[in-house]
Amino acid sequence: MTSLWLDRPRPTRPTLDDDVACDVAVVGAGVTGLVTALLLARAGRSVVLLEARTAGAATTGNTTAKVSLLQGTKLSRIRRGRSEDLVRSYVDANRRGQDWLRGFCLDHGVPVDDQAALTYATGRSGEKQIRRELEVAQQVGLPVEWTDETELPFAIRGAIRLGDQFQMHPVELVDALAQALIDAGGQLFEHSRVRRVRHESPGVRAETEAGSVTACHLIIATSMPILDRGGFFARLVPQRSYAAALRPGWVPDAMYLSADSPSHSIRRVDHDGAPLLLVGGHGHVTGRTSSEAKQLAGLLDWARTELSATEVTHTWSAQDHGPAAELPYVGPLLPHDGHILVATGFDKWGFTNAPAAAELLTAQITGATQPDSAAMSSWSPWEATGLPKALVANGSVGFQMARGWLDAAVATDDDRPEEGEGVVTRRGLAPIARCTVAGETREVSAVCPHLHGIVTWNDAEKSWDCPLHGSRFAPDGSVLEGPTTEPLRQI
Ligand SMILES: Cc1cc2nc3c(=O)[nH]c(=O)nc-3n(C[C@H](O)[C@H](O)[C@H](O)COP(=O)(O)OP(=O)(O)OC[C@H]3O[C@@H](n4cnc5c(N)ncnc54)[C@H](O)[C@@H]3O)c2cc1C
Ligand code: FES
Repeated sequence: MTSLWLDRPRPTRPTLDDDVACDVAVVGAGVTGLVTALLLARAGRSVVLLEARTAGAATTGNTTAKVSLLQGTKLSRIRRGRSEDLVRSYVDANRRGQDWLRGFCLDHGVPVDDQAALTYATGRSGEKQIRRELEVAQQVGLPVEWTDETELPFAIRGAIRLGDQFQMHPVELVDALAQALIDAGGQLFEHSRVRRVRHESPGVRAETEAGSVTACHLIIATSMPILDRGGFFARLVPQRSYAAALRPGWVPDAMYLSADSPSHSIRRVDHDGAPLLLVGGHGHVTGRTSSEAKQLAGLLDWARTELSATEVTHTWSAQDHGPAAELPYVGPLLPHDGHILVATGFDKWGFTNAPAAAELLTAQITGATQPDSAAMSSWSPWEATGLPKALVANGSVGFQMARGWLDAAVATDDDRPEEGEGVVTRRGLAPIARCTVAGETREVSAVCPHLHGIVTWNDAEKSWDCPLHGSRFAPDGSVLEGPTTEPLRQI
């Protein structure tokens, strides 16, 4: 499954094969790492950006790329148990991020498609949520309005609307950011997965298979942080969802997101001179659904039935991480240690959050005046308000851990899986992941090297996904997504 965005020729970039030194090493070339590296390079720091795959290959190249301050029902969720000022601070930070991104696109020839953003309701619960969202948005000064009338070709109970937002092509953005970084003197290495990070006085050393970077500061921009210190894996929930581009029977003139479940995201994209319909949704916690293929099929059925879409041109899937207290984590990995910093927890709104996080991290490193960061902190007092959600999330993690090991212990399946299928079975007491893809049957350990969860088969993407914290692996066991940095063990 390749996204519409990544289905294009891309520049090739070098792999790190040496030991280098710089002021700041950034790990992960999604929108977060790219903007942060660029801002630091422009501030005169020597910067090395290390990417495990290719720039934008993970969430950023598989997004729906709406750049909006109306974010579904996000503001009312932040408001639960937290102050109006904190919501205002979140909106202000996102507005700064949005403004920065718009300015960058205009300066670098990346097209920006101005659109209104709408959150709509089809059910009673959704209606209640959008009424509350309207109230909170208006309290913090966002000019959001109620409307009963939309162009949507199905019945709704109402919608809320914010004008003057935009959508874009995320991979055009990624390639422009990468070029701007190089023009500003930064270095970008692809296929350079960071395997280990060591403290090396006075800074930090990040090691890949073939080289290393020694730096005064290290920024972890890998979405789910690859370092366990700080316990972010226990404060974030990996949410995987699906997207598709289809030939349209109907084309929207705005960006839509449903408040009801399953969520549905709708936008248009002009591709090769013709409009395509882009839909997304049907998400779930990574590794925790009986069939990813059925989730994707559900999304496509909905697009055909409700939006009269016809031929499917691309389908894809990606994950982003929901923070326990609803607000992103930006700042030191550990309290009072300014050498390693993180930016994560954007909850599917990274295109405004990431540039805001990049601005904050850059100020923290250069000593420049910091923007208001009340809503963007890696360690903060409001964290306690997310405790109930974090406890539930970690309760489910414990359940998934026990279930994976018990299921593997009683598994007796010795058959070769059918093409495109995978099973977890055991050899002696050791859980084994066995799958058949492109005619080849492979076996690797089913034990996730992160914290020993048992992986499950993703029948849409033909991958092994860990239901604990969202690490993902190819059929040969190699890493697709972290937090792990190590592959599944070969048998
Ligand atoms: C389906 C979907 C739709 C979305 N739609 C929107 C939207 O409309 N608007 C919006 O604002 N946001 C949206 N988002 C969210 C947004 O796409 C993300 O928040 C954003 O892309 C995250 O960027 P990132 O750079 O933090 O992470 P990523 O893009 O995942 O980048 C992290 C990078 O780190 C690399 N990496 C990982 N481990 C290592 C390692 N050990 N060494 C080196 N590199 C490593 C990865 O390969 C990856 O390239 C959506 C998310 C999803 C899942
Ligand atoms: S991702 Fe944490 S145990 Fe697998």
